[in-house]
Amino acid sequence: MAREFTSVGVVGLGTMGAGIVEVFARNGIDVVAVEISAAAVERGRVTLTGSTDRAVAKGKLAEADRDALLARVDWQVGLDALHSVDLVIEAVPEHLDLKQRIFAELDRVCKPEAILATNTSSLSVTEISVATTRPNQVIGIHFFNPAPVMKLVEVVRTVVTSADVVADVEALCERLGKVDVTISDRAGFIANALLFGYLNHAVSMFESRYATREDIDAAMKLGCGLPMGPLALMDLIGLDTAYEILDTMYRRGGRDRRHAPVPLIKQMVTAGLLGRKSGRGFYTYERPGSPVVVTDEHTPVTTGAALADGARAIAKVGIVGSGTMATGIIEVFAKAGYEVISVTRGAEKSAKVCEAVKTSLNKGVVRGKLSEEDRDAALGRVTWSATLDHLADVDLVVEAVVEELSVKKALFASLDEICKPGVVLATTTSSLPVIDVAMATQRPADVIGLHFFNPAPIMPLVEIVQTIRTSAETSATARAVCAALGKTGVVCGDRSGFIVNALLFPYLNDAVKMLEASYSTADDIDYAMKLGCGYPMGPFELLDVVGLDVSLAIQRELYLELREPGFAPAPLLEHLVTAGYLGRKSGRGFRDHTKR
Ligand SMILES: NC(=O)c1ccc[n+]([C@@H]2O[C@H](COP(=O)([O-])OP(=O)(O)OC[C@H]3O[C@@H](n4cnc5c(N)ncnc54)[C@H](O)[C@@H]3O)[C@@H](O)[C@H]2O)c1
Repeated sequence: MAREFTSVGVVGLGTMGAGIVEVFARNGIDVVAVEISAAAVERGRVTLTGSTDRAVAKGKLAEADRDALLARVDWQVGLDALHSVDLVIEAVPEHLDLKQRIFAELDRVCKPEAILATNTSSLSVTEISVATTRPNQVIGIHFFNPAPVMKLVEVVRTVVTSADVVADVEALCERLGKVDVTISDRAGFIANALLFGYLNHAVSMFESRYATREDIDAAMKLGCGLPMGPLALMDLIGLDTAYEILDTMYRRGGRDRRHAPVPLIKQMVTAGLLGRKSGRGFYTYERPGSPVVVTDEHTPVTTGAALADGARAIAKVGIVGSGTMATGIIEVFAKAGYEVISVTRGAEKSAKVCEAVKTSLNKGVVRGKLSEEDRDAALGRVTWSATLDHLADVDLVVEAVVEELSVKKALFASLDEICKPGVVLATTTSSLPVIDVAMATQRPADVIGLHFFNPAPIMPLVEIVQTIRTSAETSATARAVCAALGKTGVVCGDRSGFIVNALLFPYLNDAVKMLEASYSTADDIDYAMKLGCGYPMGPFELLDVVGLDVSLAIQRELYLELREPGFAPAPLLEHLVTAGYLGRKSGRGFRDHTKR
């Protein structure tokens, strides 16, 4: 029989604590909510009423239920109020000495059978537990932000946590409507261990002006389907909390440089830019605590006229290649009203590409997304050719041939001879340095990367890759073209992985390392990222879709270019590829797809 929890205590009513109070009270459990001062209690109460009022306004909570929920909360200053609760969750700032002090005090105040839990993200639950005389009743219950919304709870058992306590807490999580993964006490547990290296890397991209905050965030949202970009997420977490988590993970997690907090984070914390809670972090908010981003001095001008500033006029576009990407890109340009010349290496290939474009456009018609006239008009805009000479008078060339540097360089050298002056030459490469391709021509200022995502007609993102030789005019033209295609163009430098792959693949590789270390299972790791962070797919699901061979190749490139030891491909990934387990396409990757 699992233990009944009729009343619980929550200590610290900040970003997490206030949300945790709501989770319990919503599920019919009485809560004693504790802070250090009356003002802090009041702040917590305002957060809770704000959140429940929003739920009522959205029709997700009846007014009577809200009133009952609020009536279950007893607001108090000081830990003494916790003498009769069955369980306490501590959610004070991420400092070991503070948490140890609080646990020693809780041990004194709470009844002997009470379970003492910490919501720490990165500190050792074991070290916190030894501040009490009952370490076997101390456990980690790690909620995710915002606690009322995110389904995941990581239950952290130490080597001394008793099995009964673990079982009771697991049953409690179920009662709260949460999905729990139970794991041992390691820095960052599952989700933060995979998340924070990525967040820190995103901040370093911003700090080094590799890309703007808007572009980094848009890239991850639109390229990976994440609910929010990394910098917006840092603001939600709170930069002070994020700093402490990174710092602890660096010290506890083997001094991986990727967890050493990027200096900018500390500077922002010192300057009081803590994120949403202080009204300003990477972005500026309407007021402290508000989720509404307002314009500030860094907000880019994105109106049509400003975008087209300095751009060359583009009417006729050449697209070279006959694969998946070329086919999708032809459709995108033709639908957007450009005159398109498709160049392949032979009439047979052209016929195949033409068929594929037709099929795709027809699907649009069947789904009611495209009229028959528009389909015919789009097809009518495309000329099918097997010779590069037909590109003599185009305004833009988009190259999407095989991902081999020698082939691309030879092609760009030919384009240089054939195309008129002033043409913008773009490559869709996802991994080769754009500057290598640019230097195969006599006009590197006109060369740029346009990294489309697959499937091009659907994915809204294009990475615009500027080399150190790309001219401002070429960049402006690329930006204007992306806008005209209805895509979000994000501008970045010419570095391995651009924005999306550089941030995504090391995270996937880290997940493989975590599995390899037997810290958790593929299922639990996938759950953690989907239910704790709102990712559309877990890392192992995604690796199987992308292909393990493709993922390994990208990870190797990143490692070779950036020489970051933490980017070394996971041996397990290499072994699976060697064994022919490539993911869905080969029937087996991290999971067996032949049985489903
Ligand atoms: N922010 C997140 O996204 C997130 C997610 C999961 C877990 N966590 C963890 O939750 C914990 C709290 O983080 P947060 O982001 O909510 O911090 P926060 O700074 O928003 O809130 C901490 C609260 O604790 C209160 N406090 C400080 N000392 C206290 C004391 N002695 N007694 C009672 N209250 C005290 C503060 O007044 C403040 O309101 C940390 O361990 C953090 O790692 C944070």
